[in-house]
Amino acid sequence: MSKIEIRDLSLTYRMDDAEFLALKDISTTVEDGQFVCIVGSSGCGKSTLLSVLTGLVSPSSGQVLIDGVPVKGTGKERAVVFQQYTLFPWMTAKQNVVFGMKQVRQESAKQLAEVAEEFLRRVGLQDFMNKLPGELSGGM
Ligand SMILES: Nc1ncnc2c1ncn2[C@@H]1O[C@H](COP(=O)(O)OP(=O)(O)OP(=O)(O)O)[C@@H](O)[C@H]1O
Ligand SMILES: [Mg+2]
Repeated sequence: MSKIEIRDLSLTYRMDDAEFLALKDISTTVEDGQFVCIVGSSGCGKSTLLSVLTGLVSPSSGQVLIDGVPVKGTGKERAVVFQQYTLFPWMTAKQNVVFGMKQVRQESAKQLAEVAEEFLRRVGLQDFMNKLPGELSGGM
C-alpha cells in the first residue's frame, strides 16, 4: 500500500496537426489503504490519468508522487487492468497469467503454473486454463 499524490497534473496529446488538452490541473491525494473510484463521462480523461499514474504516459506538466517519490516510468509496484483486452491470442489462459507473473516473481516455472492455476480456479476458469482467449467468452 502506498500514498499517491497528484500535483497540478496536465497532459496535452500532440498529434501531427492538432493538440488536445486531456487533463488540466489535476491535484488530489490518495491515502495509504484508501479505495478510490474515478467517475466521469466518456472521454473525460480517466484512462489518461491512469496511464500517467502507471508511468506509461508522461504528463505535460505537474507530477505524481508515490510515497514521496516522483513517478518516472513504469514500476512493478503499480499495476493496471486495461480497458481493452491485452491477452496474447496465441497463448492459453494459463500461459497468459504466467506471462504477467514472470515479469515480477522470481519463481520456478512449476511454482508460477501452480499460482496461475489457483487464480484461474478462483475466478471459475478451472476448466478453461488450456483454452486460447478466442475460445473464451468476453466475460470469461
Ligand atoms: N493517444 C491519444 N491521442 C490523442 N487523443 C487522445 C489519445 N488518447 C485519448 N485521447 C483523447 O483524450 C480524451 C480522454 O481520453 P481517455 O481515454 O482518457 O477518456 P476516458 O475518460 O477513459 O473515457 P472512457 O470512459 O470512454 O474510457 C478523449 O477526448 C480522447 O479523444
Ligand atoms: Mg477509459
